[in-house]
Amino acid sequence: MSVFDTIRNRRSIYDFEPEPVPREVIARVLETAVWAPNHKLTEPWRFLVVTGKTKETLAGIYRRIQREKTKSDDPGIQRKSAEKGYAKIMSKPVIIVVVCKKDADAFRAREDYAATCCAIHNITLAAWEEGIGMQWSTGGLTRDPDTLELLKIDAREEEIVGFLYAGYPAQVPAQKRVPAAERTEWFA
Ligand SMILES: Cc1cc2nc3c(=O)[nH]c(=O)nc-3n(C[C@H](O)[C@H](O)[C@H](O)COP(=O)(O)O)c2cc1C
Repeated sequence: MSVFDTIRNRRSIYDFEPEPVPREVIARVLETAVWAPNHKLTEPWRFLVVTGKTKETLAGIYRRIQREKTKSDDPGIQRKSAEKGYAKIMSKPVIIVVVCKKDADAFRAREDYAATCCAIHNITLAAWEEGIGMQWSTGGLTRDPDTLELLKIDAREEEIVGFLYAGYPAQVPAQKRVPAAERTEWFA
């Protein structure tokens, strides 16, 4: 696939086939991340690949978050949304957690965050070429203190830029965009 086609065809994937993604494929895809543009070559990123028991624990954290978020006082409704949350996380074959180093200098921190976002897009595009779909998430689970503790992330040193839920797509949603031509001015 050409870069143009990969960029144009990639979609955020929410529904996955249950089969796992081979470890070597994930490792190969992650190698593209570190070739992201990165001002001052700070290489601010780390990648945590989550499956198995750790994913189950994350799903349990999300179960608790969803229970707490339920507006109803009805325990049956609370249980239902909690279990739906648990099942949602369990349905993601692998979760790649992308972590960025924090920096006391606000400008450096912004540039490192930008570079990490570029790294994430490299990952999602390379994954797409391998037939793997991803969804970038910045939902509550990615910022919950229990998540940070589970993944041994010190919030004074690092932040999670995103969870990448990943697997073989069961469904590829349609999307649309305003053409760039409508947002472009040419100066000469
Ligand atoms: C920084 C960032 C955070 C995102 N967080 C979420 C999220 O928390 N939940 C979600 O459903 N999608 C999330 N997305 C995915 C977007 O919703 C998705 O990219 C958008 O709907 C466009 O779809 P496409 O990626 O298929 O073009 C996020 C995307 C980005 C770039």
